[in-house]
Amino acid sequence: MDETSLLELRQRFVGRGISTLHPIVISEGRNALLRTVDGRELIDFTSGIGVANLGHCNERLIAAAERQLRRLWHICFAVAAYEPYLVVARKLSELAPTGSENKAALFNSGAEAVENAVKVARLATRRQGVIAFENSFHGRTYLALTATGKYHPYKAGLEPFAPGVHHAPYPYCYRCPFGQSYPDCGLSCLDYLRRWVMRTVAPPSSVAAVLFEPIQGEGGFVVPPADYVRELRGFLRENDVLLIADEVQTAFGRTGRLFALENFGVTADLFALGKAIANGLPLSATVGRAELMDAVHPMGLGTTFGGNPVAAAVASEVLEVMTSGGVLERAVELGRIMERRLLEISERYEIVGDVRGMGAMRALELVRDRRSKEPATEETDRLVAEARSRGLLLLKGGLFGNVVRLHPPLTIERELLERGLDLLEQSLAEISKVRR
Ligand SMILES: Cc1ncc(COP(=O)(O)O)c(C=O)c1O
Repeated sequence: MDETSLLELRQRFVGRGISTLHPIVISEGRNALLRTVDGRELIDFTSGIGVANLGHCNERLIAAAERQLRRLWHICFAVAAYEPYLVVARKLSELAPTGSENKAALFNSGAEAVENAVKVARLATRRQGVIAFENSFHGRTYLALTATGKYHPYKAGLEPFAPGVHHAPYPYCYRCPFGQSYPDCGLSCLDYLRRWVMRTVAPPSSVAAVLFEPIQGEGGFVVPPADYVRELRGFLRENDVLLIADEVQTAFGRTGRLFALENFGVTADLFALGKAIANGLPLSATVGRAELMDAVHPMGLGTTFGGNPVAAAVASEVLEVMTSGGVLERAVELGRIMERRLLEISERYEIVGDVRGMGAMRALELVRDRRSKEPATEETDRLVAEARSRGLLLLKGGLFGNVVRLHPPLTIERELLERGLDLLEQSLAEISKVRR
């Protein structure tokens, strides 16, 4: 079927709540290059939202999936154990930076990993409260949605939300909720969490965990100051409040380290992991300190498909590739190339208000006016459409939908990365022309 007919099918048979940023139909992917059903080629700067970190249809991963497909597709870990699940649980336990012995449980989606981390934290601490952050994203199931710190479009009209979840301001320095600038602010937002949120609605004695994205993903690649992260960790430890790192979007090499938190020299008690863990096969994990994970009674966690043998076999291979050298260094290198180029672009185009990110997750925040920082939301839509028409697939994000997110596969060829950046600049030039 051609693209037009397929898009008609989409319109007719897919519920309206499921939206698709790009009105195209992809039929094939090879490393960082995608092809539509009509044969157009696109450079992928999305990795399917930070998932295909090792590229589309990676041969080594295909081989791992094929081997497992011929052995066992499904038995359900609640029925009987199987090797790929155990190998992944061991690898994740060995790798997750908690500073102690870990255990893991495997699930299907990022939202599930978050929800299960909260369950573990509640049972381990016998407390109910959870503090999440404004402008965060944790998924669309009800507890994860409750924790998500952006109302439109995710939460709109979906009340009532789960009880016991409070929100605190995230250190989003470009748009500081307190109107201050870092570092002169003295971390006012952390002070607010400590002295206000934890005094007014959520005293530490009632809080099981703080749920924290080390870098906000959907929120627009917001990188917190390192001293914020370190001081937050120290404060939580002093008050026996657990730190759950939601690394669904940031883990597995994206930031140049296996886990983003490592960039800040900080540990967490529990991790929610997903997305890139199996490079696109559905898998997620809750990993954390063994005594916390063991605070859950038998049958307190579980799912039919979680830790599927094929997805787990691929995840095991992903972790092998990620830890055997080369990939993390490459993420750093790609990040340098992107950063240098984006900074140059920001000098040429007034519409670029902020350039930020870490490793191979980089973003441009677009504004109508650099002084007022009025979000350039429509222009961002136009940029994404313009780039697509020129052969580059981008993602949006941010509280105002005015952030362009770049997360290409970590295996993208340098020449293709440069070509994609050229297309980004040409698209910016085009939409800037229209603005004048
Ligand atoms: C930080 C973070 N947590 C959780 C999720 C939810 O993951 P999933 O869509 O697999 O449920 C996402 C998805 O974008 C995410 O970025």
